[in-house]
Amino acid sequence: MAVNNYVAYGPEVEQKQENEEEDIQYIVDYMTQSNTEVFDKHRHAVRDAHAKSHGFLKGILTIPENLPDHLAQGIFAHPGYYDVMVRLSAAPGDLRSDKTPVPHGFALKILNVPGERLLPEDSSEGKNQDFLMVNMPVLVFGTVRKYMQMLPFMTEAERAPELVMRGLRGVMRGVDHLVSRAGLQASATIKGLARSQHHILGETYHSMAALRYGNYIAKISVAPESESVKQLTGIPMQIQEDSGIRDLVQDFFKRNTADYVIRAQLCTNLDRMPVEDAAVLWDEDESPHQVIGTLHFPKQQTFSPARRVYSDDVLSFNPWHGVKEHQPLGSIMRVRMQVYERSSCFRHYMNTQPRTEPNHIDDMPD
Ligand code: HEM
Repeated sequence: MAVNNYVAYGPEVEQKQENEEEDIQYIVDYMTQSNTEVFDKHRHAVRDAHAKSHGFLKGILTIPENLPDHLAQGIFAHPGYYDVMVRLSAAPGDLRSDKTPVPHGFALKILNVPGERLLPEDSSEGKNQDFLMVNMPVLVFGTVRKYMQMLPFMTEAERAPELVMRGLRGVMRGVDHLVSRAGLQASATIKGLARSQHHILGETYHSMAALRYGNYIAKISVAPESESVKQLTGIPMQIQEDSGIRDLVQDFFKRNTADYVIRAQLCTNLDRMPVEDAAVLWDEDESPHQVIGTLHFPKQQTFSPARRVYSDDVLSFNPWHGVKEHQPLGSIMRVRMQVYERSSCFRHYMNTQPRTEPNHIDDMPD
């Protein structure tokens, strides 16, 4: 039998942080207030993070037959074809001009997956697995405590006039500025990794924090695979309009298809690859990103009015939507259990939309 050095998952890999419950409550209350203020501005409720969408995709995930045992874990132990939905977004919790550089999100929903559900109340709502990813491999604030310390500065930056934000020139300058305002140190790794305004379809997207990968622990990522999107990697977007990225994605999918690989980076050492601090980069030399499936997106209309209303107002992506074998891990994941639920409940309530999970790909209109 083959031997591997992947760390085995067990509940002991997580450690509750000091004052964690109080810190989580503070974050929930703080975010509720800022979300309400943004609602009052628009008289329409938007997500408390990743409020602005750039496009919505329908596609197919293929999980191959021949994955080795260490990769054939969780839903990836079930080869086949799965319908998927994706929402591309900008990170702030308000609608900003695309001319201001910010991180981008790739929220993936895999429909009708097998496996025991993470949250009991979820079982009546659907059988989907969500993976939420951003185009940076690590979080600047990797623990609940640091996230809490950063919150006021993040809100301040989000509310700053567009010109001030643009003056910070680039996502990293912005992050650096925030971190030093909060009296924290951005790690050299984070400083070296962030990039600005590269083509949204050529980027690699990361779960940033760890999750259970069946018998093991992993970070998940999605990377360009077809030439159509590989050739966009590292190409700066020329954005002239406030919603220029939406137009760019629409134009692309009018003419092109796109393929991405989905990958797992397995934890081989809990000290060097911790689950409790999502600011630490897991070294690719120590454990490479291994392909576990492919995503195919055909040509399509990515921003029709009906698709936008459904995807912005009805859909919810949540790292806790999924199976037990992909349980999110670490304090930054534990705080997400409450904040996503609250943000989504508020949004659906204020916009009088049903809070239902899709169970068919056609639930997302063309
Ligand atoms: C660990 C790394 C994280 C990643 C990769 C991530 C990624 C994302 C993405 C891609 C979305 C957009 C989902 C969509 O399109 O509907 C999102 C939404 C959101 N995120 Fe995160 N996020 C992270 C951490 C956090 C943390 C630490 C918080 C707060 C404590 C947070 C709060 C939210 C909220 C409130 C939403 C909106 C949920 C909704 O209204 O449906 N996220 N996140």
